Parts: sequence; structure tokens; C-alpha cells
Amino acid sequence: MTTAPDYTDKIPNNVNLREDRRLQRALESWQPDFLSWWDSMGPALPTRDVYLRTAVNVGREGWAHFAHVPMRDYRWGIFLAERDPGRQIGFGEHKGEPAWQKVPGEYRADLRRLIVIQGDTEPASVEQQRNLGATAPSLYDLRNLFQVNVEEGRHLWAMVYLLHAHFGREGREEAAELLRRNSGSQDSPRILGAFNEETPDWLSFYMFTYFTDRDGKYQLGTLKESAFDPLSRTCEFMLKEEAHHMMVGTTGVDRVVERTAQVMVENDTDDVAGLGVVPLPVIQKYLNFHYSVSLDLFGGETSTNVANYYTAGLKGRWLEDRRADDHRLTDDSIMVDALIDGQIDQTEVAALTGLNTDLRREYISDCQSGVNRWNKILASAGLPQRLKLPHVAFNRKVGAFAGIEVSPDGEQLTPQDWEQRNGQWLPTDVDKTYVRSLMQPVHERGKIAAWIAPPRNGINGKPFDYDYVHLG
Ligand SMILES: [Fe+2]
Ligand SMILES: [Fe+2]
Repeated sequence: MTTAPDYTDKIPNNVNLREDRRLQRALESWQPDFLSWWDSMGPALPTRDVYLRTAVNVGREGWAHFAHVPMRDYRWGIFLAERDPGRQIGFGEHKGEPAWQKVPGEYRADLRRLIVIQGDTEPASVEQQRNLGATAPSLYDLRNLFQVNVEEGRHLWAMVYLLHAHFGREGREEAAELLRRNSGSQDSPRILGAFNEETPDWLSFYMFTYFTDRDGKYQLGTLKESAFDPLSRTCEFMLKEEAHHMMVGTTGVDRVVERTAQVMVENDTDDVAGLGVVPLPVIQKYLNFHYSVSLDLFGGETSTNVANYYTAGLKGRWLEDRRADDHRLTDDSIMVDALIDGQIDQTEVAALTGLNTDLRREYISDCQSGVNRWNKILASAGLPQRLKLPHVAFNRKVGAFAGIEVSPDGEQLTPQDWEQRNGQWLPTDVDKTYVRSLMQPVHERGKIAAWIAPPRNGINGKPFDYDYVHLG
């Protein structure tokens, strides 16, 4: 059973931390390292306080508390979703057995690896977004950036808790490494490619929270199915917070598209580059980039590691319990993308081996829903232009299509063609410089930059012109 969170402790939690002195001391000694990482790699813009949501409980009746708090005093806590004492493993060879409360020795290394990979992405995004505060389009957006940042910090705590509580000395070493690697670092970069890309402007931030953070949602969804119950419950709670991150990305791109459409209609032109908004072709290029690097995060089309994780019960499928099959998949097959005789094609493989493809497809159809939404905004402005997801083989660095060059329409290109034409599809230096030129900060209450429409709703029932952030 979960207990009420304990606020007398330095680390708010619902995991009975005070009853495990050794664990509590380990986390308390990691905390100063976390804070110095936050000071040096977290948000660079000085603030006095920010109107933030803090996780305070896991129950149905209100899990979060909103208040102005200095970010450094944010209460990064450890919360696991409530325990279901009768929970059974839902898939793989242990299907139907009771969920594990302790890590089985044979799966120790694999589980640790999965937790470290997830944990590594959380602080990475904070590092990538470190300088965005200086160019925020409004206090509302600034607040949302910081909300995402503190929650990614809390997600790091969530993974570090699991490492400290269940993986002994190796877990503690991995927890230290999570603060030592840095996004974009030459010597010790973050583990996954997309988390070493920079997020230099707010269009990138919205695209990142839409496409790349959404990969996180899908990874958490598969870990939520895990037979290792503490991991499952941790991820279930993290998904609650992720919903807000998705909202920031979805509505952020909405608002950029809406403002561009407005200016196109008002001036009766497609050529809005001189008019202080982002032209649709540039929005499309940013979309192409963030979507393609995020597809890479799902790994190769086939993977025996992932097949083994599934069979062992470590990592399930997205919405595992809604799948109408035997949840073991030993006799099933799946068609996956493949390069056959140099051509884009598909091939049949064992369903277990193709699980990365299964997850990537779930993700792709979710991404399409955002594009549909943005196209509705264009349609209701009376514009004929539409945005679209590029072909799955476009700009890939991982998997079957890593070795070929493909246009957004799926046309295979020679390396020379790609060299000549990729500037039509990916942001060029000129595009990036233009977008950055729009990023003039608007830190005044109730005001908003000219390149983006205001949000339809504020935060927690507050109006758009609320004093969401007090600058330092
Ligand atoms: Fe996260
Ligand atoms: Fe997130």
C-alpha cells in the first residue's frame, strides 16, 4: 500500500523512505550533486519564483499542488502510483505470475540498463532547453518551459530512486553517471542521439516536446507494463506529468501555425518571411527534422534484445492489456520495414523480434493526429497548404534506412541529389537564423511575441495575463 507523502523528510516521497535509513542516506548524498547539476545545467534565466505544479500525492483526488515557488526549492519527490497487491505479470513467459517487488538476479543487468537509458533522457532535455528562458514569447510559455524542466528533474529522481533502492553499488554508480554525462558533450554525451541535439529556439522546443518527448511517453508506456512492479508504478505516475509536456508541444505548434495562417490571410501572401512570423515551409522543415530524429529513438526495426526483454517481462507493448492476442507472441509474425536489394520494402519477421516496429507504428499514428490538428487550423483559415509527416525512411540514422537517402515523399536519392536538395526539407542555416531572429523575449505580463498566437487557456484556471513568473 502507498502511504501519505512525508513532508518532514528532505525528499518528499510515498515510498516509506524514513524506514530505510541506508537508502535515505544514499539519496541524501546524491541530492547536493543533483542541485549543483541543476545550478550549472538547469534553466539559465534568473527567476525569483515560478507558478509551478508540484506532485504531492498519487491519489485520484488531486495529486498536484500549484503555487509560486523558487525553482531551486522545488520539491523533487519520489512518487509511485498506488500498489495493486494482486497485480500479475501481463505478458511474456512469466505471464500470470505475481509482479516482482524485487529485481530477479537473472534480469538485474537488463533492468538496470533500461532504467539508465530512460533516466538519461530526463536531465538531457533540461540541458538542451537551458537557454530558452532568455527568448520566451510570454510569461505563460516561460512558466511551461520551467514546469517541463522541473518535472524532467523529478523524473531523474524517479529513476535514481530505483537505481539506489534496487541495484546496490552499481546502481549508485549509474546514478552518479546520470549527472556526469551532458547533452552535446564531446567526451561524455547523453546516450541517445536526439538528446544531444540542441534546442536553440522556441519552435524547436515545441517540436521537441511534441515529437521527442512523445517518444518518452511511449517508452514509459512500455515500462509501465513491466513485471518489476516499482518500475511499473514509477512510470505510471510519470505519465501523468508527461501529459502536460505533450500539451505544451501540441498547443505550441498549434499557436505558431495559427499565427502564421493569420498573417498569410491578412496579407494575402504565402511569403511571410518578412512579416515577423515563421513561414509554413520552415515549420514543415522543423517538423521533418524533429520527427525523423525521434523515429530513430525507437531503434532498429528488429531487435533480439527487445524480444528478450518482452519474453522476460521487463518491457511490454504500448497498451499491452488492450491487445487481443496471447501476450506471449511466440508463434506470431509482423511485417517490418526493410531495405531489400537496395529498395525500400517490407519483410516478415517474428513478432517478438519486431517489437520496436510495433512501438514505432503506435508512435507514428499518434504523431499523425497532431498533423491533422494543425491542418485543421490551416483549413479553417481558408488556406490550401497542408503539413505532413515525412516518409519513414527520410533522414534516418538508425535502422534499415540509415544507409540510404530518401526525400520526404519516399523517393530514393543518390548522395549527390541528397546533398543538393536536403536544404528544401531540413532547416538550413538561413532558416535557423531567421527563426532565431524572431525570438525576442517578451517577459512582460499579459504580452506575447508577434510570431505566435496566445493560448486559449491559462494554467490551472488562471488567465493568460497572470504573473506566472517573477524574474530575478
Ligand atoms: Fe520525463
Ligand atoms: Fe517529458
